[in-house]
Amino acid sequence: MTDVQLGMPQLPPPDYPADVRARLEADADEVIARYPDSRSALLPLLHLVQAEEGHVTRTGMRFCAEKLGLTTAEVTAVATFYTMYRRKPGGDYQVGVCTNTLCAVLGGDAIFDTLKRHLGVGNGETTGDGKVTLEHIECNAACDYAPVVMVNWEFFDNQTPESALRLVDDLRAGRPVEPTRGAPLCTYKETARILAGFPDQRPGAVEASGGAGPASLVGLRLARGETGPARVGPPRGEPPQDERPPEHPSSHDAPQPTSASDPEHPSGPVTEEGEG
Ligand code: FES
Repeated sequence: MTDVQLGMPQLPPPDYPADVRARLEADADEVIARYPDSRSALLPLLHLVQAEEGHVTRTGMRFCAEKLGLTTAEVTAVATFYTMYRRKPGGDYQVGVCTNTLCAVLGGDAIFDTLKRHLGVGNGETTGDGKVTLEHIECNAACDYAPVVMVNWEFFDNQTPESALRLVDDLRAGRPVEPTRGAPLCTYKETARILAGFPDQRPGAVEASGGAGPASLVGLRLARGETGPARVGPPRGEPPQDERPPEHPSSHDAPQPTSASDPEHPSGPVTEEGEG
């Protein structure tokens, strides 16, 4: 028979110190005012309290509940559902290795194993210096650039075990690290505040962009009715496709020929109305 530990009911969590509470109140009111229904502000408010302490504490959930007129049970249900909310203290840098299918077979599993050994931590654990929390993550819609590593949700594309080792060593040593695309890197708490909806004040951060890769955009081009042959990006180390001579389109990117036994449905690019 399995032991059941009932435990003692938890006491209500303490409130924030008065000065912290006053600051968070002002920020929370600004966020809540953006929504016609205050409870819609729960996700950004959870990021706000995460920006304060580095993870969502019981005090933070109490604060959210009080501000939004929700029960702590309702707030807890949301905070525990989304993996972007930490439920325990973590490092300044959340290093996520994509181990979803495509990244895994292209090296994500090897990267994750290498980092676990090198850092001496397991999934969801933090290095002793408080710098890096390692976790495996699901697909981040960056499969064009597999295997992908994310640091505080910024992309580090086309990684290898060696490049990932350099990345975490640089993070721990405080050396500058540049994401492959998108905004510059900042700490986990700073990232959480941006996710709460406050302006990113860093020079160049808003202008920085990083679009999806060619393979991800094929469906968009076909949906727009563009007739040119769609191709996937070049293998690593080769020049971009625009600089290469034309070649056969990928078998899964281009409109496929309709079977001769189905003359009623000729093939062709798909329009937004879904007609060929
Ligand atoms: S499988 Fe890794 S980003 Fe899609």
